[in-house]
Amino acid sequence: MTSNAALITGCSTGIGRATALALARAGYPTWATARRLDTLAELRAAGCRVQQLDVTDEEAITRVVRAVEEEHGAVGTLINNAGRGGGGPVEEIPLALVREVFETNVFGLIRMCQLVLPGMRRQHSGTIVNLGSAAGLVTPPTGCPYAMTKYALESLSDSLRQEVAPFGVNVVLVEPGAVRTEFMASSERHNPRTGGDGPYEGFKQSVARMVERAHREGARDVLSAEDVAKVIVRAVAARRPKARYKVGPRPASPRWPGASWAIAAGTRSCAAWCRSPSTDRRTRTAGPGPPHLVDRWVWARGLVTPLGSSFCR
Ligand SMILES: NC(=O)c1ccc[n+]([C@@H]2O[C@H](COP(=O)([O-])OP(=O)(O)OC[C@H]3O[C@@H](n4cnc5c(N)ncnc54)[C@H](OP(=O)(O)O)[C@@H]3O)[C@@H](O)[C@H]2O)c1
Repeated sequence: MTSNAALITGCSTGIGRATALALARAGYPTWATARRLDTLAELRAAGCRVQQLDVTDEEAITRVVRAVEEEHGAVGTLINNAGRGGGGPVEEIPLALVREVFETNVFGLIRMCQLVLPGMRRQHSGTIVNLGSAAGLVTPPTGCPYAMTKYALESLSDSLRQEVAPFGVNVVLVEPGAVRTEFMASSERHNPRTGGDGPYEGFKQSVARMVERAHREGARDVLSAEDVAKVIVRAVAARRPKARYKVGPRPASPRWPGASWAIAAGTRSCAAWCRSPSTDRRTRTAGPGPPHLVDRWVWARGLVTPLGSSFCR
């Protein structure tokens, strides 16, 4: 019999937790995983099987995939949700942080795919859902390395989709805008600290304030984890899912049909850069400073706007 068991990474909070609950309620045998087992009590009570799993731990991911296969024959759906943030001005970013973000968001995800694919090929069926982001479409300043990893998932998902389609396996990329979860709080912990006297200090403080405002309770155009979970369940249930599901705010006005969080955030962070005390008049007019950034955002708006209505829930 074909397995429809769902295996989800990063279920301690946010989108992973909401997706596990939604899939369990929809009747899928759901394996919810997290780095800390104690965070999964609610999901266990809701009928999920729970396992400890860090996507950068080879022993753990091998063990968990084997456990699902022993019970169901194969992983029917893999949801690569685990992810972490990290960003800052490229000039200042520690390479160790760049490596850490890639380890979780890209390398761990690739390894998960490699482990579940033999089982999916054997049953000639399966779906892999990767959590991309609007940050994989447009990059705000200080968006690296997080945005780099989400760009990488755009490419990886397209490549993988074509490779495994002949074996009956679907690959879906979900691209949410801003979602109110623990993400911003946990990302900040890993970002270069503000409070120094470096050349980017004013800018970093402006961006930090902008990000905090954008995710504040009641902020406009911010999704809930459940909004994203609904879209993931729809993709998992589809016989022929779309390659990409863009999850963003509804268009605010017909004159701005492609309005998305990514564009708004980019515009705001450019504005933050322009207001920053660390950008003096000379930088603004001469160097690779704000005029260049603003150009990029005008370009990005042009890129994303045609996606228009597909960027809506
Ligand atoms: N929130 C947004 O605005 C937004 C927008 C677009 C896309 N996304 C993407 O959505 C996904 C879920 O994010 P979220 O918003 O739900 O954030 P979240 O609440 O911070 O959840 C992130 C989850 O990933 C887990 N995780 C981090 N590193 C891990 C590792 N090495 N191994 C296993 N699990 C790990 C975290 O576990 P711990 O509790 O142990 O840290 C947590 O369960 C991420 O891929 C993120 O990039 C988020």
